[in-house]
Amino acid sequence: MGFFKWKDQFSVHVQEMDHHHKKFFALLNKMYDYNKMEDGDPEFLNGLFRELSAYVLVHFQEEEKLLARAGFDGLENQKIQHQYFRDHLVKFRAQHFNGQDRIPANVLHFMRDWFLDHVLEADGQYGKYFADRPFLKMGYIP
Ligand SMILES: [Fe+2]
Ligand SMILES: [Fe+2]
Repeated sequence: MGFFKWKDQFSVHVQEMDHHHKKFFALLNKMYDYNKMEDGDPEFLNGLFRELSAYVLVHFQEEEKLLARAGFDGLENQKIQHQYFRDHLVKFRAQHFNGQDRIPANVLHFMRDWFLDHVLEADGQYGKYFADRPFLKMGYIP
């Protein structure tokens, strides 16, 4: 049993954004699996954390660009929420690189729960926004 299992109902119906979201959870699952290993290489975990952080930054940027182009009125809320998560990531990474060889379970749980909540609520709103405006699909949605 993995830590997180993607379900179709998490889709925001924007293919590239779904792809990003799935990738985030796949990286979280890898971290979770690493935590259970007895003799994992901490360098591998550091690499995973780096990849996840970089990926989240790119995703937020791409999402905000997409929403700005489409004139989505929830953009400011998205930016605030994204910044909240970024701030936490910076803190988690600082703690991690201070000599931890495992990612604390509460950090993994926080990342999973916050991200899923965000995908379902805030991101779900732009999913509906696009669904209600099929004309935006041309040229706005990658
Ligand atoms: Fe997102
Ligand atoms: Fe978002």
